[in-house]
Amino acid sequence: MSQVIELKSHPLVSHNLAILRSKDTDTQGFREAAQRLSTMVLVAATESLKTVQQDVETPLQTTSERVLAEEIWFIPVLRAGLAMVDMGLRLLPGAHVGFVGLYRDEDSLEPQHYYKNLPDFSQSTQSCFLMDPMLATGGSACAAIDLLKAQGAADIKLLTIICAPEGIKEVFTKYPDVSIFTASVDERLNDVGYIIPGLGDAGDRYFGT
Ligand code: PRP
Ligand code: URA
Repeated sequence: MSQVIELKSHPLVSHNLAILRSKDTDTQGFREAAQRLSTMVLVAATESLKTVQQDVETPLQTTSERVLAEEIWFIPVLRAGLAMVDMGLRLLPGAHVGFVGLYRDEDSLEPQHYYKNLPDFSQSTQSCFLMDPMLATGGSACAAIDLLKAQGAADIKLLTIICAPEGIKEVFTKYPDVSIFTASVDERLNDVGYIIPGLGDAGDRYFGT
């Protein structure tokens, strides 16, 4: 069931990736491009949400549209995942939001967990959209998926902007039931764990630190 959906062939995705990657893009430009890309990834990742037909009265007649029929949770991985959750809430204002706080130790590259605010997912069925713009070694994503599964989450999709093949392999090896949606699958990791060509440090660039 493992699948990675890469959106780079779409001209708007590629155009915004060029802005996001450029070392000459300032914080505001970076934020705006990240938000546009997040919206595009979100639209693709929500394509198979469950819906039910509902009658709607237009000023002219009754018609029928499909409306969402499942509980939706957005789980941004702090910090950089915050870049994606704002756009998610614009598209789906009724979604719930949980949080996972992780940072990568600069030397070992191991994820360090510092915060969690998640419900007991086992009480109802829902779709969980785990949001983190960068999938590098995959350590952070796997740690976040572990936390979601420990809370009973069954349907998890990972939404990213840039992935390294190494991270995709790590996630799929451990969690073959998780699908990945991304703007770009890049070439590789460098010897200090950064994605090549990548965009540098997503959190620092998005928050101007
Ligand atoms: C970045 C990114 C991911 C992680 C990816 O976070 O947002 O969470 O690195 O790397 P991995 O796949 O090798 O684990 P970072 O550690 O820079 O934390 P920050 O968002 O708080 O800056
Ligand atoms: N985290 C980032 O922000 N960038 C990378 O290239 C790898 C991990």
